[in-house]
Amino acid sequence: MTQNIGTETAYQSGFGNEFATEALPGALPRHRNSPQRVAYGLYAEQISGTAFTAPRGHNRRSWLYRIRPAAMHGPFEQIGNGRIVANLQQAAPPPNQLRWSPLPMPDAPTDFVDGLVTMAGNGSAESMSGCAIYLYAANREMRDRFFYSADGELLIVPQQGRLEIATELGTIDLEPQEIAVVPRGIRFQVRLPDGEARGYVCENFGALLRLPDLGPIGSNGLANPRDFLTPVARYEEREGDFELVAKFCGNLWRAKIGHSPLDVVAWHGNYAPYKYDLRHFNTIGSISYDHPDPSIFLVLQAPSDTPGVDTLDFVIFPPRWLAGEDTFRPPWFHRNVASEFMGLVHGAYDAKAEGFVPGGASLHNCMSGHGPDAATFEKASNADTSKPAKVADTMAFMFETRNVLIPTAQALASPQLQGSYQDCWAGIRKNFRTTP
Ligand SMILES: [Fe+2]
Repeated sequence: MTQNIGTETAYQSGFGNEFATEALPGALPRHRNSPQRVAYGLYAEQISGTAFTAPRGHNRRSWLYRIRPAAMHGPFEQIGNGRIVANLQQAAPPPNQLRWSPLPMPDAPTDFVDGLVTMAGNGSAESMSGCAIYLYAANREMRDRFFYSADGELLIVPQQGRLEIATELGTIDLEPQEIAVVPRGIRFQVRLPDGEARGYVCENFGALLRLPDLGPIGSNGLANPRDFLTPVARYEEREGDFELVAKFCGNLWRAKIGHSPLDVVAWHGNYAPYKYDLRHFNTIGSISYDHPDPSIFLVLQAPSDTPGVDTLDFVIFPPRWLAGEDTFRPPWFHRNVASEFMGLVHGAYDAKAEGFVPGGASLHNCMSGHGPDAATFEKASNADTSKPAKVADTMAFMFETRNVLIPTAQALASPQLQGSYQDCWAGIRKNFRTTP
């Protein structure tokens, strides 16, 4: 049991644990979920993130004890989607390799929700499968506006500027090289301690993200469960003319609400937001020759109904030693059945000499060839592989999906789209000769 009455952010450690936390002593009922009367005059409310009958190991739900129930707000009316794209089924997506420069910071006041720009996606919110991938750039805090997505959990990857994510279940302080996941339906605000912020979001419509099984790796390694942090209960008792924005079936809806919905005084359960510091990832790789498939860098996965095939993998390329002898050490040329949306949080990516910069993005769709650029190929082909080398000061990541990631029309028309991306492979020399 954790109590949090002050203002300092505190966390509980573990992934998918049965957490229990209260901001006022005795607010959490003992041995009952919905007692006849809850202490402090609170209302009991359950939020379920999985089917009631999901197997116990995957069942996620939390009990919230709050000042007012979530049902208390005015009727929703549809508002403009801004740069959020509801229909992810654009006609004739190109098989081109695509790359974008970073999204510029906005000129006009723009909060986190207004700052979301859909870049690509697949599936649909209403079918509860697939995902939508966004960039965001924001310079205005959410104070009187609250948001939730009924469409999916939000995996937030900040690239520049810290975020203070105040949720119903507590507050997460997030900085670049950390990630946060806000579950489907959880209401929250994003505040900007640095005044502006930029990054990436993947909205996962499908099964909840989970830690991968480790197989022959054993019981430790990759992202360790104890490094995942879930906030303790924190509430605000605040009344005024506020706005609750819902994302539902791809579109934005607004309702008036006369109080802050961040009014959960105590909660228990395993359906809750969490954060993870990517710098804690226990990176594993080859100590002989070659390198494993990038699945060795898997942080979180959203499984599909097909064993071994995920609808969404969140993969990182963190600092690491490369030790493969007589090995081309950067990622090799490849084509995959999966589709890969990459971003760079920090530093440089070891397969690209230039053009892929922090805040930028690339998309390599199903069977589109890609890999190191000409300069990287030349350098790595002539490197001394008798000694290990450190890939330092970097943090790239990938949202990898089972289904094709369809770029949105606005992403294809964006001034940040680099028309010359294919040129990075144009300078690859023909080395073929008929002698070995
Ligand atoms: Fe790739």
